[in-house]
Amino acid sequence: MTVEILSLCGPEEFARTLAADARAGLTQSPKTLPAKYFYDARGSELFDRITRLPEYYLTRAETAILERTAEELVALVRPREIVEIGAGYSRKTQLLLEALGRHGGQRFVPLDVSPAALAEAGQRLTASYPWLEFLGVCGDFEHHLGGIPRSGARLVCFLGSTIGNLTAEERVPFLRDVRAMLEKNDRFLLGVDLVKPLARLHAAYNDAEGVTGLFNKNVLLVLDRELGGDLDPADFAHRAFYDPKRERIEMRLVALRRVEARFAKLGLEVVFEATEELHTEISCKFRREVVARCFKDAGLVLERWSTDEAGDFALALGRPG
Ligand code: SAH
Ligand code: TRP
Repeated sequence: MTVEILSLCGPEEFARTLAADARAGLTQSPKTLPAKYFYDARGSELFDRITRLPEYYLTRAETAILERTAEELVALVRPREIVEIGAGYSRKTQLLLEALGRHGGQRFVPLDVSPAALAEAGQRLTASYPWLEFLGVCGDFEHHLGGIPRSGARLVCFLGSTIGNLTAEERVPFLRDVRAMLEKNDRFLLGVDLVKPLARLHAAYNDAEGVTGLFNKNVLLVLDRELGGDLDPADFAHRAFYDPKRERIEMRLVALRRVEARFAKLGLEVVFEATEELHTEISCKFRREVVARCFKDAGLVLERWSTDEAGDFALALGRPG
């Protein structure tokens, strides 16, 4: 019915944060970049392709759980609105929105850093659900959760195991911010990828078609465009591996030769030695006990735990403790 977009982080602030993060990350050792910069319009599209890859079981497993549980969940919570953090195109969320409509809920509030993803979801979802109030919020989930307007009882969702892209240290502070979004009868639904044998984890981030590599390298194009850089993705190789000790995937870009890069807008020159690695992303894998403990530390209680049949993925339901 209505598509509204609220911007909690305008283009100037985004540009300023990107410049500061890039300068800090590229001048430390090892070099790093925050993961949120993957998701410009092309990055969101590449991620959407990742979700359909044969190796990337996560999206299918999470969809299967939602197909089984969405109705019951919405009947339990009776929300007026669904808020989705890091929503992307909100495809899986449609299962929850359909249940929302059946139970008299009215509003969908996706938050994402990518305005392109929000715009495309707004068009698609309001066309499919004429009763829906759509309020897209453009912002950073590490800073702007408190700025999301509330219209009534809430189900807050964070799907896709995006929480795995935060470090273990960042996790509880983030969950405290989520906790602060909730009133007594609200709920938090969290999707997490589970620890499993290495081969399948490895394949999920090293697909045969090379889409994950394109996605990983897209961050270089974002830096070039936003910071007047001259990085060439062809000078880097995608590398992803599972670290069983930390139970997480490490995503890197490896310099194939010595690269001297300039960023005109930063007045910064950066040298990558041959084989030097830029740390671009992590993807932590979870166990039920770990989720229960983080919830507890953030003032949440783990109320339900649902997995797909194979036990690959879980949806954790939390309530204020
Ligand atoms: N929820 C979708 C998309 C997951 S990909 C799914 O489950 O398939 C991660 C999404 O989070 C992307 O859409 C990206 O733009 C968004 N994102 C990443 N970092 C973010 C941040 N710091 N703040 C807000 N959104 C972020
Ligand atoms: N949340 C997703 C995950 O951890 C994000 C993701 C999937 C990703 N594939 C990626 C991030 C490849 C970087 C590179 O699985």
